[in-house]
Amino acid sequence: MCGIVGYIGKRDVAPLLLEGLQRLEYRGYDSAGVAIHGKSGGLKTAKAKGRVRELESRLPKRFAGTTGIAHTRWATHGAPNDVNAHPHLDADGKVAVVHNGIIDNAADLRAKLVADGVELVSDTDSEVLAHLIGRSQAPTLEEKVRAALALIEGTYGIAVLHADFADRIVVARNGSPVVLGIGEKEMFVASDVAALVSHTRQVVTLDDGEMATLKADDFRTYTTEGSRTSATPTTVEWEAESYDMGGHETYMHKEIHEQVDAVDRVLRGRIDDRFATVRLGGLNLDAREARAVRRVKILGCGSAYHTGLIGAQLIEELARIPADAEPASEFRYRNPVVDPDTLYIAVSQSGETYDTLAAVQELKRKGARVLGVVNVVGSAIARETDGGVYVHAGPEVCVVSTKCFTNTAVAFALLALHLGRIRDLSVADGKRIIAGLRRLPEQIAEVLRDEERIKELAAEYADAKSMMFVGRVRGYPVAREASLKLKEVSYVHAEAYPASELKHGPLALIEPAVPTVAVLPDDELLEKNRATLEEIKARSGRILAVAHQEQDKADHTIVVPKNEVELDPILMGVPLQLLAYHTALALGRDIDKPRNLAKSVTVE
Ligand code: F6R
Repeated sequence: MCGIVGYIGKRDVAPLLLEGLQRLEYRGYDSAGVAIHGKSGGLKTAKAKGRVRELESRLPKRFAGTTGIAHTRWATHGAPNDVNAHPHLDADGKVAVVHNGIIDNAADLRAKLVADGVELVSDTDSEVLAHLIGRSQAPTLEEKVRAALALIEGTYGIAVLHADFADRIVVARNGSPVVLGIGEKEMFVASDVAALVSHTRQVVTLDDGEMATLKADDFRTYTTEGSRTSATPTTVEWEAESYDMGGHETYMHKEIHEQVDAVDRVLRGRIDDRFATVRLGGLNLDAREARAVRRVKILGCGSAYHTGLIGAQLIEELARIPADAEPASEFRYRNPVVDPDTLYIAVSQSGETYDTLAAVQELKRKGARVLGVVNVVGSAIARETDGGVYVHAGPEVCVVSTKCFTNTAVAFALLALHLGRIRDLSVADGKRIIAGLRRLPEQIAEVLRDEERIKELAAEYADAKSMMFVGRVRGYPVAREASLKLKEVSYVHAEAYPASELKHGPLALIEPAVPTVAVLPDDELLEKNRATLEEIKARSGRILAVAHQEQDKADHTIVVPKNEVELDPILMGVPLQLLAYHTALALGRDIDKPRNLAKSVTVE
């Protein structure tokens, strides 16, 4: 999704901006651009369709300055091309704007500008902002921006340069992240800390409705109405090196292998052996409130939603509270009935997914209690929710989620254990789950040691026309996530079904070119699952089983170590991440940047 970088200080700005853009490449984009205050006055810009290196090759020889803004664009309004790339300029070329988000009333605003004789050069919604700021008669840049924003409906994270106000960058946020990086006599701004952390780890995250003015040695924040806000910088816990590839060929591979340490991290300091429970400091839910919860509803998108399915299962099993998960993107549009006895939980790696954030805001507006299970500390969802559990997976750079999926599932196990022990889960069961949680890192390492075999299996199945993923109850969310992983990274079509549903229709698809991946945890449903394998075999379907022992009905089995039944789904997802990875590799895909996809979907 679109990325913003800005800098004001004493250093040569263009290389800094390009480096920042490169750090945002992982989010997915189709064009890039930069605007700076030229040394002899006035703005200079360069834009290019394609990669940041294309933009770099297009920078004019004399492109020196110490203040600038830059952008990677992921097309929403208008095709990806040089003209539609940001920054956009006003008619006099005095204002440059980079914008993330979507302006809902852009068509009206464009029509009004055209009626006033303004010539719009791009097809974007964002260009109107540059013109509105440029046409404002207000005396200061801050007021010009404020006046323009007052006319806008929609979402934005923006950074603005003005030729007549060369000592500052003005930024604003409504629904799209904006983070200020505080340096020594220099300031940074970005839509993602990834672009800043190699220069400073002191950051201020703007709230919705907040603006900021950055000068080389000073910054101030205020609301879009102009009242000052207090902004105390916080320290980003992630090191700049966490964003490097660390000797791996791809971020996806690195992040799959980081899961051993990541799971260790999400457990660290949280287990309370004495009471056979866990301590979750940020939950803001006391025992009395936890006991009063009648239902749990988990909301998230994509892989986050799938971890929500695992989370709901864990909460029902360990805490015996009815729980379910729903895509946040659906929930927010169906005028949901909000029940005061339901605990709502928003799940998100980035903490910025627009649909999930909007669902949280809708719930809060209706008076619900909402917790967050989030990876990025201080992100919008983390701040909008009443409390929650941080996932501590570290930065996830690859567009497709792996380590964050696993860590979020573990975070749900912690939450379920906590709720369970406040209610009816016995000490013995609490101890059993804690012992299981402690075994997870080593068991994940064991799965990862099987990578060569999984790679061979991926090569064997990479010719599939389509893949069917099946599982039952605990295995079903694993099947869904594995199906999503395969399709998004390898582009092999995949379907996920509850194993019990096969005979109600999808069995018609089974043939040798459509192999099935069956997730078979060793639980009370194993025999029923084995019967499903028979059904598939009878239709000449090839079967790859993921199970705790070799399966005679399957053509191949990936054997996964056994944990407690409630925790087995967490482990069973890991080999299937490797299967998707090696299938994509065998098919020559661009693994870290799958086509059409973006990390953190901050638009509707
Ligand atoms: C899939 C994937 C996406 C995200 C989804 C939600 O591999 O990464 O499906 O899970 O876009 O993103 P977050 O978790 O940032 O809210």
